[in-house]
Amino acid sequence: MTQVIVALDVETIRREEDLLRALQGVVVWYKVGLRLFTAHGKRAVDLVRKSGGKVFLDLKLHDIPQTVAHAVQEAQRLGVDAVSLHLMGGPDMVRAAADVSPRPKLWGVTVLTSMAPKDVKLFHPGARVPTLVKSLAKAGWVAGADATICSAQEVPVLRKAFPHLDMKFVTPGIRPMGAALNDQARVMTPGEAAALGIDFVVIGRPITHAPDPRRAALDILTEMKAAAPSALERE
Ligand code: C5P
Repeated sequence: MTQVIVALDVETIRREEDLLRALQGVVVWYKVGLRLFTAHGKRAVDLVRKSGGKVFLDLKLHDIPQTVAHAVQEAQRLGVDAVSLHLMGGPDMVRAAADVSPRPKLWGVTVLTSMAPKDVKLFHPGARVPTLVKSLAKAGWVAGADATICSAQEVPVLRKAFPHLDMKFVTPGIRPMGAALNDQARVMTPGEAAALGIDFVVIGRPITHAPDPRRAALDILTEMKAAAPSALERE
């Protein structure tokens, strides 16, 4: 079952409330990211929870193991359902986060898509981005991360590389056919993502900037259902 996470990349609580109201009953998952959380903190999370939604707190944690474990404990207290962390923080960091109990789901970022191959080479001479993505995804899975955040194009590659690991995937860069690409370069449609059985797709502007966000979300869900009817019916 592919679930949609709407990225609440907005500036004000008012905009957040408007979107939550518009999407109520259509979308369950929302991403509260660095901007909204830095500006409004717990309030931004509470609004989603009060509307009955689930929260993916996208803070991309990356620090020494104990500090990250404490942040995961606090995320649990906030009542979020998932939190992201940089797998580059290393297996000990991921393990310390995974050992927190109870805790939200831990979703691991491999290599930021904003990093060009030349940037990666600066820090990891000789490394190729796809190889690094594979190593990080595997190390994260082994250390206890619940899902890998990556581009949808990387999902078949990772599945092929690790056919025996039941890896789950969270993918941004999703664009309905004909939608503006904005700053996304390598995109996949919601239907393609659903057909691939990707677990979560993170979608922002195609919904939040649409003239009618509810309609846009419903259209996306319809497209996904048509592409993977059996998967969505299991919901
Ligand atoms: O508006 P859009 O659909 O592009 O939003 C996608 C969300 O996913 C944004 O919050 C963006 O920061 C995030 N993201 C991304 N690409 C990545 C990692 C995260 O678009 N590689």
